[in-house]
Amino acid sequence: MKTKILIINGPNLNLLGSREPSVYGNTTFEEHLTKLKNTFSEIELEYFQSNIEGEIIDKLHAAKNHKGVILNAGAYTHTSIAIGDAVAAISTPVIEVHISNVMNRENDRHISKISRHCEGIITGFGLYSYNLALKYFISVKG
Ligand code: DQA
Repeated sequence: MKTKILIINGPNLNLLGSREPSVYGNTTFEEHLTKLKNTFSEIELEYFQSNIEGEIIDKLHAAKNHKGVILNAGAYTHTSIAIGDAVAAISTPVIEVHISNVMNRENDRHISKISRHCEGIITGFGLYSYNLALKYFISVKG
């Protein structure tokens, strides 16, 4: 059976490709996901996107059988103690990822309610941030 990794994208990330392309690029997440599935064909990649905080929490609770979770909680990163609590509540390791370099942006984005509960943070490598997180789960946690 293939190792299962779950990618969760939060609010507004369904608009990647058209949303603020100077910050987030021109590629849709679906396009990038196809490339990820080809590059990392040895794993089973599940993808979930929601603009709703509670749905992201429910999905984290359901991630028991996954080797790892790659979480881009979008703006909820900076506000949601509840998503941070959900990460803390599960034993599956979670990597926080961001497309943009949040430390290079407005002060509000320097705060994360999630990071302390995560295995690590990857920020600022564009969509390649997801590749880096996958490489970690495969090479180091493999
Ligand atoms: C983001 C950064 C967040 O500050 C922002 O609210 C997003 C996307 C990123 O991937 O760079 O929606 O998580």
